[in-house]
Amino acid sequence: MPHSSTPRAPKLKNAQPFTRKVLAWYARAGRDLPWRRTRDPYRVLVSEFMLQQTQVSRVREYYPRFLARFPDLETLAQAKPRAVREAWDGLGYYARARNLHELAKCVTRRHDGTLPDEAQELVELPGVGPYTAGAVASFAYEKPVPAVDTNVARVLRRVFFGSRLPSPASRDIWRLAAGLVPKNGKRAWRFNQAVMELGALICVARKPRCPECPVRTTCKTGRRIRA
Ligand code: ADE
Repeated sequence: MPHSSTPRAPKLKNAQPFTRKVLAWYARAGRDLPWRRTRDPYRVLVSEFMLQQTQVSRVREYYPRFLARFPDLETLAQAKPRAVREAWDGLGYYARARNLHELAKCVTRRHDGTLPDEAQELVELPGVGPYTAGAVASFAYEKPVPAVDTNVARVLRRVFFGSRLPSPASRDIWRLAAGLVPKNGKRAWRFNQAVMELGALICVARKPRCPECPVRTTCKTGRRIRA
C-alpha cells in the first residue's frame, strides 16, 4: 500500500488557521526591528550572525555600529581580523565574527561580491547552517523557504505535535515548516518573522504565555490550558 507505513508529519488541517492567526497577530504585535526594515542581503546576514547566540536587545545596540564601520561585504572582506574582532567585542562567541569575515572574503572572491540567493548555496558558506541559509533566502531575497531556529522549532512542535512521543526529529519539523510556509515570497517573509516572533514573545521556552496566545485554539498544547 503506498505511503501507509511512511512516518508522516502531522495532518495539516490546522495549517490555514495557524498561518492566518499568526500573520494577523504579527501585523499587530510584531516588533519594529532594524533588520526587518531592510532587504539588503549583507545587512540581513549580519543581523542573523549576531542573533545566533545573542539577545535582540544587545544586537540592537551592536548592529548599527558594526554596519557603520563595515557598511558592505567588500569593506568587511578587506578589513583586518583585529578590526572585525574589535567591532564584535561585547557580543561574544567570536567564532561568528571570524566566520562572517571569512564568508565576506569568500563571497567577494567566488561569487562576484553578491551573496547567493538559494539556501542550498548559502549553506556552503562559513558559519552558515540550515537556519541562517533559510533566513537569508527568505528575509533578504523573499524566497518562499522555511527558516527553522530553536524558537520556531519549539512553536511548531507545540502547535502541531503537542506532547506526542517520541518528539519529532529536526527533519520532521523542517518538513512541516516547508509545508506551512506560504508560496508567495512576501507572505513567506512575514510568516517566518511571525513564527519567530511568537516564539520570542509568547511561546517562550520556560513559561509559555498561552492565555495571551493568538493561536491557542489551534494549538495542540495551548488547547489544553484554560485561559
Ligand atoms: N532571531 C533570529 N532572526 C531573527 C529576526 N529576524 N528577528 C528577531 N529575532 C531573530
